[in-house]
Amino acid sequence: MKKAVKFALLALMLLSLAVAAVGCGGKEAPKEPAKETGKQDVAKTKLVVGADATFAPFEFTDPATGKYTGFDVELIQAICEEAGYELDFRSMGFDGLIAALQTNQIDAVISGMTITEDRKKIVNFSEPYYKSGLVVAVQEKNNQIKNFDELQGKKIAVQSGTTGALHAEKATSKDKITYFTSSDQAMLELKNGAVDAVVMDYPVTAYFIQQGNKDVKMVGEILSAEEYGIAVPKEKTETLEKINTALKTLKENGKYGEIYKKWFGEEPK
Ligand code: ARG
Repeated sequence: MKKAVKFALLALMLLSLAVAAVGCGGKEAPKEPAKETGKQDVAKTKLVVGADATFAPFEFTDPATGKYTGFDVELIQAICEEAGYELDFRSMGFDGLIAALQTNQIDAVISGMTITEDRKKIVNFSEPYYKSGLVVAVQEKNNQIKNFDELQGKKIAVQSGTTGALHAEKATSKDKITYFTSSDQAMLELKNGAVDAVVMDYPVTAYFIQQGNKDVKMVGEILSAEEYGIAVPKEKTETLEKINTALKTLKENGKYGEIYKKWFGEEPK
């Protein structure tokens, strides 16, 4: 009798264990969720996108996660999702981005890149996605430089290949300009007092100061209205079309506005 009870208990225990195991298995995420919908079985086309990820809040490495993040990063993710691309995001020096496009190392650039007439001769741009401009940054304690016109003869740090560099070249002689691969380095040079000023995109400079660099300030007006666009090689007209269509959809369905608000705290301009 006792033995029978023991056996029954054991059998019950085993049964409940088995049920638990099956239950657990059922809760596990299916390994291939794509198969369930039968929709995403087809491999997505890869879109290799280049950026210089030293340009917060547009593209930079999140110090907490070590991952690329920023307005451009989230926008291109959304565009790829919308257009059915698999995103392959790569960071490289800003002054090498256009050459990388021309040699087909990358399919597109989203890098706070200003749409300019010169660039338009060699690459195509999407519809504009951000209104920007340049600004002069100096040390907080500097009372000499109050605007762009007072840069003559002053030492300026810039990021190579940028519109900021072009403007600095108009303001002072080339031998007074120090060119950096990353925008962070240009800002550091200013903080260290090795240069008198930096000419850089307004939203990036404002973000830098806001992130706790109160020893830096912006002076004068925001220079020249600029617009950012996504650049693609001249011959990739289909890619450009897909990007533009996705961008338009995201602007209409509110997703673009959502990402914009997240990064800039206001509605798109
Ligand atoms: N808007 C400027 C330009 O097009 C600077 C862009 C720099 N972007 C970057 N990710 N570092 O020249």
